Amino acid sequence: MSAVGDLRKGLNDGQRLSFGVASASYQIEGAPDADGKGPSIWDTFTRVPGAIDDDSDGSVACASYPDPEPDIDLVVGLGVAHYRFSIAWPRILPDGYGAVQKRGLDYYDRLVDGLLERGIDPMATLYHWDLPQALEDRGGWLVRETAECFADYAMVVHDRLADRVRVWATHNEPWCAAYLGYGSGRHAPGRQVGPEAHRAAHHLLLSHGLAAERMHAAGADTVGIVLNLTPVWPDSAEAAAVADGVDAIRNRVWLGPLVDGEYDAGTLRVAPALADAELVRPGDLDLVRGSADWLGVNYYTPARVDVAQPDPGPGVDEVADVGGDAEVAAFPGVEDFRFTPRHPRTHIDWEISPDGLEELLVATHRRTRLPLVVTENGAAFDDLALLPDGTVDDADRIDYLRTHLAAIDAARDSGADVRSYVLWTLMDNFEWSHGYTKHFGLVSVDRSDLSRTPKRSYHWVRGIIDERAP
Ligand code: FCB
Repeated sequence: MSAVGDLRKGLNDGQRLSFGVASASYQIEGAPDADGKGPSIWDTFTRVPGAIDDDSDGSVACASYPDPEPDIDLVVGLGVAHYRFSIAWPRILPDGYGAVQKRGLDYYDRLVDGLLERGIDPMATLYHWDLPQALEDRGGWLVRETAECFADYAMVVHDRLADRVRVWATHNEPWCAAYLGYGSGRHAPGRQVGPEAHRAAHHLLLSHGLAAERMHAAGADTVGIVLNLTPVWPDSAEAAAVADGVDAIRNRVWLGPLVDGEYDAGTLRVAPALADAELVRPGDLDLVRGSADWLGVNYYTPARVDVAQPDPGPGVDEVADVGGDAEVAAFPGVEDFRFTPRHPRTHIDWEISPDGLEELLVATHRRTRLPLVVTENGAAFDDLALLPDGTVDDADRIDYLRTHLAAIDAARDSGADVRSYVLWTLMDNFEWSHGYTKHFGLVSVDRSDLSRTPKRSYHWVRGIIDERAP
């Protein structure tokens, strides 16, 4: 225990919904070489020509590493209870394993203290996609060794921060890490190895299980995992089989092991690699079963699917990038399907459907019986409307948040044990393959001098939190 005593709060008791706001290391920190940090796969991937829509990278981002104080001020001003941030593995272990870089740990130590001093409870995510490049060079998530290294890394961070951080997530959206990283190649490391991507999925789950086991043994009691689950809606009678395949890869490949300790038969049909005894070794799935004390659900948009049509004909609008990620190549084993998002949509072409969130939370509650946190939800809009003082007048974002908050309230009324609503995201940042072209922030960031200006939605959120305070 540190000199400040046990300041850890953890999740609330579920009587009321609490609020938080989220960020991720690579999207905001910048300073890729500071304090002995090693390169991550995103430092490498952003240099590949054409990988990022505006040819940008996260080397400056929001400069949160050089100075996190302005971020903390904004979190405090928003009135939320939690700040969900992620830790950059290559700042802690520049090679992914072995030597610990104390200066990297010191940064998160100061961030946690800065939050606690101002009454904000930290929610730490150990992996939001910035794998040390040195581990990718050894095979990345396609090899088992990476899972073992992850558990060692998790313990280094846990040992340093657990006296002040109670709520931990091992992974953020392992579906993206596995299937965008190694399936479609839209995300780092940008590999396209088809069904081999299922190996990455298993190793990510295994790494969660290995880390959770050791963290629990060290006294942790609020270790979770954050999944981008989605309702999958077939758009025609013929689409039942492809909908089942998409549901398997997006939802059941994760929930099966976490809840039942197995990959179900439908999942093995689309992902036969997961039946390979060399990959899934005795004990792996037992380790994962029951390993999460809580579950994070990131939700932006539902997945509507239909069978592929060689010539969709006039009026059918083809969208390659739904949910930021739902390219067909990111679903190896699911043959001949397409996504059919409807309107209205956000600026990133994701269908807006608060009903999808309500349905998902109720279904996930029934399936898992775990305390749930909506760990991400928010919307990209072009943010062109301005008030006379120059503030972004993002009525569309306010509308999105209002209707999704109502969906969470409705899910809670139906018995879903949702503890907290964590918004994506504090400020406009590096939006992965979209670079700086998509704005999800409650605060705008001027790219020329990084000055921050709260949008109207920021003030609206503050008002809602105040209104709901006991
Ligand atoms: C999620 C990611 C997050 C952000 C939002 C828009 O998939 O976890 O980092 O990019 O989408």
